[in-house]
Amino acid sequence: MPEIIKKLEMRKITKKFPGVLACNNIDIHINSGEIVALLGENGAGKTTLMNVLFGLYQPEHGEIFLNEKKVVINSPRKAFAYGIGMVHQHFMLVPNLTVLENIALGFTSNKIFKLELNKVRTKIDEVSKEYGLSVNPDAYIWQLSVGEQQRVELIKVLCLGANLLILDEPTAALTPQETDELIGLLKIMAKKDRSIIFISHKLNEVKAVSDRVCVLRNGSLVYEGTTPEHSVSTLAEKMAGREISMPTLKEKSHATSPILEIKNVFAKGSMGTMALDGFTLTVNRGEIVGIAGVSGNGQKELADVINGINHIESGQILLNDEDITNKAPQKIINKGMGYIPEDRMHEGTIPSFSVKENIIMKDYNHPPLSKNTFLQNKIIENYSSELINNFDIKCPDNKTSCASLSGGNVQKVILARELSRKPKMLIASYPIRGLDIGAAEYVHEQLLEARSENIGVLLISEELDELLDICDRIAVIYEGKTLDILDRDIDTKSKLGLLMAGIKDEKKVI
Ligand SMILES: Nc1ncnc2c1ncn2[C@@H]1O[C@H](COP(=O)(O)OP(=O)(O)O)[C@@H](O)[C@H]1O
Ligand SMILES: [Mg+2]
Repeated sequence: MPEIIKKLEMRKITKKFPGVLACNNIDIHINSGEIVALLGENGAGKTTLMNVLFGLYQPEHGEIFLNEKKVVINSPRKAFAYGIGMVHQHFMLVPNLTVLENIALGFTSNKIFKLELNKVRTKIDEVSKEYGLSVNPDAYIWQLSVGEQQRVELIKVLCLGANLLILDEPTAALTPQETDELIGLLKIMAKKDRSIIFISHKLNEVKAVSDRVCVLRNGSLVYEGTTPEHSVSTLAEKMAGREISMPTLKEKSHATSPILEIKNVFAKGSMGTMALDGFTLTVNRGEIVGIAGVSGNGQKELADVINGINHIESGQILLNDEDITNKAPQKIINKGMGYIPEDRMHEGTIPSFSVKENIIMKDYNHPPLSKNTFLQNKIIENYSSELINNFDIKCPDNKTSCASLSGGNVQKVILARELSRKPKMLIASYPIRGLDIGAAEYVHEQLLEARSENIGVLLISEELDELLDICDRIAVIYEGKTLDILDRDIDTKSKLGLLMAGIKDEKKVI
């Protein structure tokens, strides 16, 4: 087993990618028993820096010192040998293998064809007892929830003997309860002299869990200090290099002219059960209506049926008084529907296409972008460059593929495409999920701008703060139905919380 890491230092680390200085001369260190939060906006260089520490990237310059001795970490295997483990932003488990098999894959064995599964099983047992982490070694990964998969990743790095754990946005996909459990666990690990580097955009969590913060901006370390001396808003300021204030609605809309009417809609989900179970809601012009709810209560199906991606069994959907029920997506788009889907990399964009191609995707086949079936390259060139500029999309040029942009910039590409088409109605599913606070501020400003241009907006989210900030009304979805619709002025967070759990009558909980 690797020796305890009393102190780890990264000195003057520089890592370049073509056209990008991802890490610029960065110095950071961590001591045993410490939890350090690594902060920074999307694209600041956090993941790259940690990939250098984990041996996935070789830096152009810089050195790593472990317990005052210089080490060269040129592969994850080497990193593990030194006691450094990493849980990636996107899990790296094999879905068709069991928990046990996945963890066994991490062990080196001299007898390549005969992994000693029983030894691995015993190790899993030891680690799960030590930390109170329950896991079934024989479950397949595909059977597990995201929170459970996270637990498997953690158990895996602990089984491999990690004394320094790097967690890259570990809570991005966790429910609030799972997040609390994880925070508790990290604190126990730190008490046992392990060191933890924690990356998160959720500044409340950073406050709750970390001892120290290191802030990166554009590849450079711009700040380092202890956590207690900061509030969430000063941390946000350090990340963005400017004051951040999430925009909020100042005045309630008095809009009464419906733009989207969803009437008693029944629709099946991917599991074949009725995911929308008589859902009814109206959105007016110039109004933002929120859909609050724990995800999995029909939100995905709702967005899909409005956009014609899924069929409904019965009911009716009207856009601007026209029936769009079960119409083809392209027809619905042409009638003025804009859509910011939940999954920005699979549904929202084609990652291998350039920013330019993604921007014109919905309009390339009609004037002014094409004429007599010929693409008008010059017009397309100007149009996409103008949008990149107006929406402040950070990319080397309009030929850059979307796959190489940060999440915040991909979201800006989608916003640019959808809003520049001047929709009558916009569906926004979890539009700020995973974005840093500066990018989130921008997205909200754009949604409020759309509202002021008399566009109707339906905002689907699990974040109560997001909904309370910018919605005129908030509908609570539960098991495919609208449980209640609240006006923003009389809302309280706790009331929404209860409704999201399906509890309508407050007396019932007593
Ligand atoms: N494999 C890669 N190839 C090219 N550019 C990359 C690669 N990985 C990251 N980058 C770029 O390096 C910068 C830092 O990215 P990253 O470390 O992922 O930031 P963060 O994790 O802070 O969001 C970004 O500009 C990103 O586009
Ligand atoms: Mg990252």
